[in-house]
Amino acid sequence: MQPFLKWAGGKRWLVSNYKDCIYTEAERYIEPFLGGGAVFFSLDPKKAIIADLNEELINAYLVIRDQPEKVIQQLKSHQRKHNSENNYYYKIRDQSPRTSASKASRFIYLNRTCFNGLYRVNLNGKFNVPKGTKNSVIMESDDFIRMSAYLQKATIEYQDFSASLRKAGAKDFVFIDPPYTVKHNMNNFVKYNETIFSWRDQERLADCAYEAACAGARVLISNADHPSIHKLYSRRIWRRVVVNRNSVIASDSNCRKETTELLISNYLNNQGEQVQVRS
Ligand SMILES: C[S@@+](CC[C@H](N)C(=O)[O-])C[C@H]1O[C@@H](n2cnc3c(N)ncnc32)[C@H](O)[C@@H]1O
Repeated sequence: MQPFLKWAGGKRWLVSNYKDCIYTEAERYIEPFLGGGAVFFSLDPKKAIIADLNEELINAYLVIRDQPEKVIQQLKSHQRKHNSENNYYYKIRDQSPRTSASKASRFIYLNRTCFNGLYRVNLNGKFNVPKGTKNSVIMESDDFIRMSAYLQKATIEYQDFSASLRKAGAKDFVFIDPPYTVKHNMNNFVKYNETIFSWRDQERLADCAYEAACAGARVLISNADHPSIHKLYSRRIWRRVVVNRNSVIASDSNCRKETTELLISNYLNNQGEQVQVRS
């Protein structure tokens, strides 16, 4: 199943190029930084906990799960008006709909027609991305009825990652994909919602991920290939593998380029192959 959103930091490249690094045998899947959910949609887990701290995003998942017909109907209406009214995009951007279904379809409409699928809000929490060049509100790949059935197996939560990770145990696979904040880079932070993901959050996350691994969960973290992140995950339980977003695994630091990222895990070896988890 394909994600229905375009999302900054989306992990479609991980699903396409590093499928073998993703653990598929778990009873339950946990993804605390859901975003567009590229890995979640590639896995078809029997049970899942999916969560994010972007309230509008989580509302969209809940409405697709519970009222898919409403989403289809409202997106069709957005498509008609987008094609026929000047400035329709800005009119919708300025609105604050009341019902959860209208909020969800506005969110999906803006994601598909705004500049580069960005999500950015001003200090008052109002979405402020300008109109982009794409005009397709309805996609060929859309199947919200099937997606609703897919999402029935998931517990969907609007919450901080710590609450999701607290639930992880021996039967779980946890995929952790936080905003890539690094130390000494606080002027360049990535802002996905009203809350900045700070270096303190990265430290908090490393502690929660460690707890989840100690509780027996298979844990895979993607993060920035930056010395501060390597240091943060230097405990013996973790294997760190440098990967290239566009191609094959680059296991040593000489191969690092702009496009490298870091995978951190308790079930991969240094070559990115799955191994037995040590307890
Ligand atoms: C890199 S994106 C995840 C992308 C996702 N893996 C995909 O494939 O589209 C990071 C996500 O973390 C969320 N986020 C930021 N701070 C958070 C927090 N404290 N707890 C949970 N989610 C958070 C953001 O709203 C954003 O959706």
